[in-house]
Amino acid sequence: MSQLFRRKIYSDSDTSTSLHRVLGVWDIVFFGIAAIIGAGSFSSLGEAVFRGGPGVILLYLICGFACGFTALCYAEFASRIPTAGSAYTYAYASFGELIAWVIGWALIMEYSFGNIYVAFSWSDYFTSFLERLGMHIPDYLTCSYTEAKKAFMNGSENKELINAWKNAPLLGSLKLIVDVPALVINGLITWLCYIGVKESKNFNNVLVLLKLAVIVLIILVGFAYINTDNWTPVNPETQVASFMPNGFAGVMSAVSGVFFAYIGFDALSVLSEETKDPQRTLPKGMIISLVLCTFIYIALTLVLTGMVDYRKFDGVGDPLSFIFEKSNANVAWMELVVSFVAIIAITTVLLVFQMGQPRIWYAMSRDGLMSPKFQTVHPKYKTPSYATVVTGIVVGIPILFTDKSFILDFTSIGTIFAFVLVCAGVLMLPAKEKIKGRFHLPYINGKIIFPVIFLGSLIGFYFWQPEFFNTLMDWNDPKEGEFRASIFFFILINLVLCIFAFIKNFSLIPLVGLSSCLYLLTGMSHDNWFWFGLWFAIGLIIYFCYGYRNSKLRKA
Ligand code: ALA
Repeated sequence: MSQLFRRKIYSDSDTSTSLHRVLGVWDIVFFGIAAIIGAGSFSSLGEAVFRGGPGVILLYLICGFACGFTALCYAEFASRIPTAGSAYTYAYASFGELIAWVIGWALIMEYSFGNIYVAFSWSDYFTSFLERLGMHIPDYLTCSYTEAKKAFMNGSENKELINAWKNAPLLGSLKLIVDVPALVINGLITWLCYIGVKESKNFNNVLVLLKLAVIVLIILVGFAYINTDNWTPVNPETQVASFMPNGFAGVMSAVSGVFFAYIGFDALSVLSEETKDPQRTLPKGMIISLVLCTFIYIALTLVLTGMVDYRKFDGVGDPLSFIFEKSNANVAWMELVVSFVAIIAITTVLLVFQMGQPRIWYAMSRDGLMSPKFQTVHPKYKTPSYATVVTGIVVGIPILFTDKSFILDFTSIGTIFAFVLVCAGVLMLPAKEKIKGRFHLPYINGKIIFPVIFLGSLIGFYFWQPEFFNTLMDWNDPKEGEFRASIFFFILINLVLCIFAFIKNFSLIPLVGLSSCLYLLTGMSHDNWFWFGLWFAIGLIIYFCYGYRNSKLRKA
């Protein structure tokens, strides 16, 4: 049993690097925006708005809050174990091998599956850009099979998807519907990673400025077309006008799309050894980039939901150019500019993720948990060639038979799960001596504060929304049943956390990070949990058949 939780010890010499400390607060902010703003803001915002209506703004605030606390936990880990900065490495040191494997397995969801979504949204903007230039690719070659089928079955108003389903040629009895641009961009990015593109700080900064400039432009131009009535749409069933037309459960069901827009900040923690005065610079830079992104997302949501009725965003993969289409604001030049910049912005996120995945596999393989083949380095290009090709295949094949919403849910649940383990991992770290020049998470004793905050909020909420508590155990309700069940378990777990916080004097910051990430999980549907459980089970089987036996720690 103890073998399952064997920990990797990273000696202090692992932390001495020859890297130059050159990065200041604004460099960290720029890196942050480069990694964070991509398909989430350019694409998944549409799906989020469709599910939750204008009230999705609240969810952006909640996610920003949860990610801020998690970012601090990442920074704490990174300052202790800066050899190879990923949640996998951190878990190996604090929780032991089994959990490290589970996190490594969950990170495949963040990086590879995340990239499937990013490739789909790249395709949406690419197609809309070509369309503006007067080039039309048949709809059945620019969307996924399952998405077109779902749209047709559900009577969606999305014309492209319905056309794709109706006009697709038949291959035997199968409709030929394939997202070709998504496949092609995945192939190109895999090739670039294979031959080893170099990231450059200056080029990165230019791209970030371009991204920010177009977002500001969208907000400024979009504001002129806002109809404030759209912010309080009328629910057709109840005839009540509300900021949250589908209730708070509707807002929470958008959690995958909203959370996805924040993924990427975790990559910042690896910069700890290259940062000037990381103790102050790193948390400042991370928090500033998260706050900036939160403001951007709120402003974009206000513009989107103000310009167009939220129901029109069903299945729309390019919402930021969609709002300027003929049938909406009808600003053709904006449609063109937004699509063009989106293609560039999304390509950079694809590159970051596609380069990140092989490096995690490389680390796992070095520890003996994956086949040694993943350590193969290309003799000429010096890149992890085998792992890069496998990543390309893992991203490419599902493009053929999955769809955006499924992948979005799958990526988000896996990543939030990894964040939960990172925050919990920080709680388990032993106290350390303060070393000058390294980041230290401030310790605030959560013994009393955490139970007071949690129980206080619970009681306050009870008096504010008593009917929610009266129906908390009614899990059969078709609309809110799943959400109620999740909230019930959330409360239960937090009560246990309150007891542990009291007994063990847990540190407040990771505790709040953990609790807020757990809250985000309450927005996941039972279907998401089922698929996540299946993925998890496959991971465990592979670990017991391979990793457990071949681990370097076992041989030691
Ligand atoms: N946050 C990243 C994006 O939105 C993953 O593309």
